[in-house]
Amino acid sequence: MKLDSDLQSCLAPPTDPLTIFRYPCSCGEISLLGRSNGYVHCRRCAATHRASASGIIDFFGKKTEQNAYFDSLYEAGLLHKRDELSSESARSSYESSYDKAQQYLTLCGINSARPVTDLCILDVACGSGWVTAGLLRNPMVQRCRFHAYDISPHGLEMLARFAETVQSTNLVEMSVQDANQMVFEDDTFDLVIGSSVLHHFDDVPLFLAKCRKILKSGGAAVFGEPFAMGYGLGVAALMVAQRQLGLQYPGIDAVYKDISYRVQHPNLVQNLVDKHLFFPSSFLSMALSAGFVDVTFTSAAPREYYRERFIGELMAERSISDPALLARANEIYRTFFDVFDADNYGESVGAFVQVVLRA
Ligand SMILES: C[S@@+](CC[C@H](N)C(=O)[O-])C[C@H]1O[C@@H](n2cnc3c(N)ncnc32)[C@H](O)[C@@H]1O
Ligand SMILES: [Zn+2]
Repeated sequence: MKLDSDLQSCLAPPTDPLTIFRYPCSCGEISLLGRSNGYVHCRRCAATHRASASGIIDFFGKKTEQNAYFDSLYEAGLLHKRDELSSESARSSYESSYDKAQQYLTLCGINSARPVTDLCILDVACGSGWVTAGLLRNPMVQRCRFHAYDISPHGLEMLARFAETVQSTNLVEMSVQDANQMVFEDDTFDLVIGSSVLHHFDDVPLFLAKCRKILKSGGAAVFGEPFAMGYGLGVAALMVAQRQLGLQYPGIDAVYKDISYRVQHPNLVQNLVDKHLFFPSSFLSMALSAGFVDVTFTSAAPREYYRERFIGELMAERSISDPALLARANEIYRTFFDVFDADNYGESVGAFVQVVLRA
């Protein structure tokens, strides 16, 4: 036995495993990267990037304030706190987002009731990677290649541990990188998915232009983002209601100021974590300028949600429980709601809107 394996290693010296996507190097080479202990490297000039023990490639290599902020949230367990994979509840947290992950395929016109094969899918600023996790374990998603990246490594490490527990024909690659400087080769992906991400990026038009380049022609990008009109109407209703009732909740004042600041000073938001709030018209023109041929807006929630629950959720997010304020703010909000009420309420006046951009 020993002799055989010795002989084998002489005849076929072990080769490094490779990345599953090709990457452009500053030396001009565009190819799969070699993987060795703790690193990936260009196979022409041997430029390297660190890789963690679980295989997460670090294309970023530095920390910004925003990066440190998200790291601290993950470390404090404030983001995706139920995703700790050491416990059973963690696994079920990935499991509970299974359907939501499939919705992103549906939004792009893909029926995952039938086999979905051989697609290249990018999960942008993936956080704990629940979109990738959900798609990965769908038995109808087969032989697909995923890349999930975030500027913070913590969620990626959770995803890496989860991916090891999933048996599938799909392959996953993960990296730490900055969405403002994506490192992929052009024409790489069939789908780009970003859940609640664009509003954190410095230069959204630049990101969308790069996104269009790394998508294959005919591919699609889908994003779920906060929209200004939806949040503005809800928060304005709360503001008027608290004034009428002689109340003053700092949480309501703060979000009102925050929304108006972000809408009025879009060029002064670099230092904010939540930078942008979108309007359909400006989003559409950004997407068309980036080279997308079609853009559709879909609401994550039906119109009934806005009529019945939206104001209550805005209050709950700020830990405000006040039945009188809720009743008054709902009455005011419903005056807005009724004048705009139509089947497309969520798309036109919704707070969280999913946008599909076709390449
Ligand atoms: C609101 S979380 C959404 C995470 C995940 N997509 C989800 O739906 O749970 C925003 C994510 O964007 C990441 N992020 C912020 N700025 C980034 C950047 N410039 N490049 C890459 N990721 C970034 C954060 O680390 C964080 O995980
Ligand atoms: Zn090189």
